[in-house]
Amino acid sequence: MSTDHFTLTENVRNFAPAVGLVLGSGLGGFTRRMEVSQRVPYSELGLPHSGAPGHEGELVLGTVGSSRVAVLSGRTHLYENRGAREVTAGVRLLGALGVGKLFLTNAAGTLNEAYRPGEWMMLSDHINLTGESPLAGGPNFVDMSEIYTLSLRARFLGVAAAHAVRLHVGIYAGLRGPQYETPAEIRMLRVMGADAVGMSTVLEAIQARALGMEVAAFSCLTNWASGMSGPLSHSDVMEVGRGAAGALVDLLEGVLQ
Ligand code: HPA
Repeated sequence: MSTDHFTLTENVRNFAPAVGLVLGSGLGGFTRRMEVSQRVPYSELGLPHSGAPGHEGELVLGTVGSSRVAVLSGRTHLYENRGAREVTAGVRLLGALGVGKLFLTNAAGTLNEAYRPGEWMMLSDHINLTGESPLAGGPNFVDMSEIYTLSLRARFLGVAAAHAVRLHVGIYAGLRGPQYETPAEIRMLRVMGADAVGMSTVLEAIQARALGMEVAAFSCLTNWASGMSGPLSHSDVMEVGRGAAGALVDLLEGVLQ
C-alpha cells in the first residue's frame, strides 16, 4: 500500500477544523459563503490533482458560522486513471488535520421516478461497484454497517425541514465510469436497490469510516439515468448542478451554525 507524503505548513497543521467538506462538480461556489482564511493548491500539499492548469483543486480553510471547516474543492476520480489510494488521499489529509465529521457531495443520475433532476438525495447507504477499496493492504474487515452516520442524517433532515428544502434519502451506486451507464445497467442497478448512480464518493466514505470519522453524503440529482429520458450530456449535468447548489449550501450552513 502506498504511503502518503503530505506537505503541511505550520498554519495548515494548526488550523484544527472540526468539519471537512468535499465539493463535487459545479459546487465550488460554497467557498464564497465562507469566511476564508487560507487557500492552498493541491500541488503544494502533495495531493493528486487533475491535469488541466488552473483546475487543479485547492484546500480552502475557513469558518462558517462558528465552525472551522476544511474544504477540498475538486477531487480526482478512478476514471482519471487514478488508484483507490489516490482518490482518497484528500480524506486522509483531512484526517491528519483532525477532522471528525466529513460531508461529501457529488453529481448523480436518478433511477427513482419519485426523485427528480434538480433535487438532492442524502445517502442512507451505498453499493460500491468500483471493484476497488482504499483499504486494500489494511486495515481489514472494517465495519460498514452504518457508513453514513445516523445522527448526522437526522440533523440534516431536521435542517432541511426547517429550510423547506426537499431532501430525499436513498442508496447510491458508485461505478468507475468514465462512460455513462447503459439502460440495461440502470435496470440492474434498480433491481439491486439503488436510487442514484455516480462515479465518486463510495471510496472516500469507506476511507473516512476507517479513520473513525462521522460521514454524511449528498447527491445532486442532475439527470434521469440512462434509458429513462433522452441521451445524457455532461454540460447538462454541470448546469443542473450549478442551479441546485444553493439548496445544499443552505443545509450545510444550517448544520454548521
Ligand atoms: N451516471 C453516472 N454518473 C453521473 C450521472 C449518471 O447518470 N450523472 C452525474 N454523474
